[in-house]
Amino acid sequence: MERPLFRRLGAAGDDAGPTIYFNGRPIEARLGDSVAAALLAAGVSEFRETAISVAARGPFCMTGACFDCLLRIDGEDNRQSCMIPVRDGMQIEAMVGIRPVDGDA
Ligand code: FES
Repeated sequence: MERPLFRRLGAAGDDAGPTIYFNGRPIEARLGDSVAAALLAAGVSEFRETAISVAARGPFCMTGACFDCLLRIDGEDNRQSCMIPVRDGMQIEAMVGIRPVDGDA
């Protein structure tokens, strides 16, 4: 039997909070969650791919030190999702390989 890597403590719905969207998928977060915590609790473990080897990465430190949790949040690339609190309606996308910088051909 497969067991989830993370599970929430306490009863579901005790502190239901905002809805965020990961690659278009709605996710019910809880008040006080960071974006990374909300996604991990929803079963999302691959947040980005490395630019060169395209290896999958996900949160490691949850303290803002490792940069493995980078996501595109509300249209802005390379946001440290473990340091950003959820807000209703956030649009979040995985970071995939090399993304052209604005102005590059
Ligand atoms: S998980 Fe390490 S910086 Fe976010």
